Amino acid sequence: MKLNFFAFAVFAVSTMTTGATTKTTVVTGPPVPVFSQSSISKAKKLLSSLTLEEKIGQMNQLTITSFEKSPGVLDESKLEEAIVKYNIGSILNVPGTGGVTPEVWGKLMAKIEAISNKTDKKIPILYGIDAIHGSSYTAGATLFPQQIGMAATWNTDLVEQGTRVSAYETRASSIPWVFSPDLDLPRSPVWSRLWESFGEDTYLSKSMGVAMVKGFEGDNVGDKYNVATCIKHFVGYGSTVTGRDRTPSIIPDRVLQQFDLPIFKAAIDAKAKSIMISSGEINGTPVHASKKMLTTILKEQLGFQGMVLTDWQDIIYLYTRHKVAKDNREAVKIAINAGIDMSMVPDNYTFYNDLLSLAKSGEVPMTRIDDAVLKILALKYELGLFDQPFVAKPKDYKKFGSTEHETLAYNAAAESITLLKNNDGILPLSKNKKILVTGSTANSMKFLNGGWTFTWQGEKADEFEKDELTILEAFENKVGKENISYAQGVEIFKEVNIAEAVKKAQSVDVIVLCIGEHNYTETPGDIMGLAITEPQQKLAEAILATGKPVVLVLNEGRPRTITDFEKKTKATIQCYLPGSEGSRALVDIIYGDVNPSGRLPYNYPRFTNSLQKYNRKYTESLGDEEQNDDADYQKSYNPLYEFGAGLSYTTFDYSNLIVNKKEFGTSDTIEVSVTVKNTGKLTGKEVIQLYLRDEIASITPEVKSLRGFQKVNLTSGESKTVKFTLNPQDFQFVNEAEKWVAEPGEFTIKIGNLTKSIELK
Ligand code: BGC
Repeated sequence: MKLNFFAFAVFAVSTMTTGATTKTTVVTGPPVPVFSQSSISKAKKLLSSLTLEEKIGQMNQLTITSFEKSPGVLDESKLEEAIVKYNIGSILNVPGTGGVTPEVWGKLMAKIEAISNKTDKKIPILYGIDAIHGSSYTAGATLFPQQIGMAATWNTDLVEQGTRVSAYETRASSIPWVFSPDLDLPRSPVWSRLWESFGEDTYLSKSMGVAMVKGFEGDNVGDKYNVATCIKHFVGYGSTVTGRDRTPSIIPDRVLQQFDLPIFKAAIDAKAKSIMISSGEINGTPVHASKKMLTTILKEQLGFQGMVLTDWQDIIYLYTRHKVAKDNREAVKIAINAGIDMSMVPDNYTFYNDLLSLAKSGEVPMTRIDDAVLKILALKYELGLFDQPFVAKPKDYKKFGSTEHETLAYNAAAESITLLKNNDGILPLSKNKKILVTGSTANSMKFLNGGWTFTWQGEKADEFEKDELTILEAFENKVGKENISYAQGVEIFKEVNIAEAVKKAQSVDVIVLCIGEHNYTETPGDIMGLAITEPQQKLAEAILATGKPVVLVLNEGRPRTITDFEKKTKATIQCYLPGSEGSRALVDIIYGDVNPSGRLPYNYPRFTNSLQKYNRKYTESLGDEEQNDDADYQKSYNPLYEFGAGLSYTTFDYSNLIVNKKEFGTSDTIEVSVTVKNTGKLTGKEVIQLYLRDEIASITPEVKSLRGFQKVNLTSGESKTVKFTLNPQDFQFVNEAEKWVAEPGEFTIKIGNLTKSIELK
């Protein structure tokens, strides 16, 4: 029972650092200046000299492929028409059929620059690219784990360093702007872009998102090694009811405020320069058509002052798909008046023509157009596009694709790979064991990298990465071909030679079964069921039936259900989509040269229709014992592996959980410390996770919520005391009146298996 209920809304932005993690809580605040005064003044001056046509032109973004005669062959007259006649502001995408070298990028940029220099105002083109796990549209770039793997490292420093490499290699490709990071909060593991996110938790996503914004933008986004971010996809994109891409989301405002918006708010406070809007609808309103989302919430409540970009063709989709506008003209009017600054059109002048007509008729006010163009120009000034060389000089980017960068990608993969099960300590394996490597994902770079790799869907990774090692090759490289036999067994969707795999299994000591998902992103990655594909299940069952010990290696963008056969594996390892160095990291973990330290950034479901999050409500996780005794009840919360789970080859012991106050007030901070000791024989990294529970609250409380984490490295026998600071906002939630509140009563702090209660007076 709760007494003296009182509430307070929070208006100030508060940022603080807790060990390795920066926390920014609070969802209402003053405008966050993302451009310098100098950029804004220059932009204003230029803006005042532009004709209406020039202004409208700046708001257009077109794909480079719309200026090609055939893939990779530029139609310069079309490009010239776009830049000189239509004054377009931005171009996106990779030319030709995918991944081009920095030299090719440089030549393209030189052409673009030469054409924009022919225009009256010589406004540089803002080129943007999907640099999703590295500069992933550039041949030879360093490819990191996809974001879900970066989240699994639980190491924000490493993520920031890795992102710096992506920024460097993107600038080496003469590109100053990236459509990253992805700040979506997927609510269903079915969603095809789960792997582009940081997983299911707001706090983890927020911390990782800030690390990436800092890594990309640095202190000065105009520096030749930094790029501007475009955080995406604002908002609710990952929450579709069906789990399928670009289908409706239903998100109560209270829930949006508490779980989705804080991730964007933290990135906005970290000064992210631009934002991309979600292609989806929330509660029946497409976000691109929502003045509430784009102006009231994004610009006024969250204080975002950067540039707002649509997603691909999303203004057109307002009338062709969403049916909230009768034609393109109406769609343009709705979207621009809602708060869009730039349209990813992406390949025609319908947006240009209709916006021009709407501006002339006054249906879109000039103040709105000036506001949009000011942001676009300010971003160009901020990036130094007006006064820095447009084309990167190779001598400035000697580290492009270097061993130094590759090592960081390796470290990220090594810290992301998550050991979920290790029965009888089967791992690490000794190097003289005979191994059968089998499975659909064992021998291709496509599955290690996933989508957004040289091409949109990532189907060409093997072509581009002949020098990189597949899992099979990494095994052969590590312990010699004589110790490794191979039979593919299956492709993802098709049987190949299961019988041969079973036969080869007879003469080995251990089987490494590599299964998972094909390369995909967005709607092409939609699935109708979460279970891993049938041919792969069949191979797994056949291999397990041999009775030989099986090490299951999962190589997948989302957790596909594997429950029936996974029970029988000796070890299970989640690799996610670990990037080009992933196979080496995996094999080093399997043989014990690296001690695994990844932790799951989501709940791994046991059943396809039981997809609760770790921060479930009590009613979602009642056990037998809490039900009536007049019937049998199934355990209702029972993920196969829980958020935060992951094993090491050493053991850690937690002691001395100390909280500096037993009682506290609403403006107090709380200091928490805990001692962690490596009680095993090997050096290892532990992720210390701090969870909070509000015992009784007016909105049904979550069973636990992550409020802090730190990753520490401990040698055998070493112990460290780790400190956390909880700030007043950590105790708050959004109540029924949609206010952030902390309610008096008991809270429980949990680290490892230790807990402490404190009381808010
Ligand atoms: C995706 C975005 C991406 C954009 C540009 C869209 O289809 O949803 O995430 O940045 O294309 O390639």
